[in-house]
Amino acid sequence: MVKKRFLFVCLGNICRSPAAEAVFNNIVRKNKLDEYLEADSAGTGAWHVGNPADSRMRQAAQKRGIFITSTARQIDLEDFSNFDFIIAMDSENLSGIKSLENKCFITKKPVIRLMLSYSKHSKLKDVPDPYYGGDSGFEKVLDLLEDACQGLLDSLNPKE
Ligand code: 4NP
Repeated sequence: MVKKRFLFVCLGNICRSPAAEAVFNNIVRKNKLDEYLEADSAGTGAWHVGNPADSRMRQAAQKRGIFITSTARQIDLEDFSNFDFIIAMDSENLSGIKSLENKCFITKKPVIRLMLSYSKHSKLKDVPDPYYGGDSGFEKVLDLLEDACQGLLDSLNPKE
């Protein structure tokens, strides 16, 4: 069985996208779909490459039983061949992904979409960047991601 692969992308790959990766993988495991679906994350920027996720985000996620274990990396051209979906946290990340896509000459390109286009309950377009704010920003991001990751899963036919 070839797994469907999802890459979640934000700016630094230390707050939003590693959280999206962990939230999605958590929902996948709960639905016993690990055999069919898997997620990774990356940043459009390189500042935090090699670092663990922000401790504020890890703590907020852990309180919900979600464990963020990824190490930051930057998105690269090979990701366009290795993933079926590339999902941006905000419009700026989406522009960065699209400029990289323009340098990529492959026949089968991934679906590229905004995370909150899968949300069922929020009218926001972008997942807000929590980096410079207080703790409530991290909770808000997790609320948005739990909703949108469920919406993403519901939009799929995982076993096809
Ligand atoms: P992220 O948040 O894109 O959700 O990982 C940020 C992390 C770091 C910075 C900005 C946003 N920064 O400017 O260092």
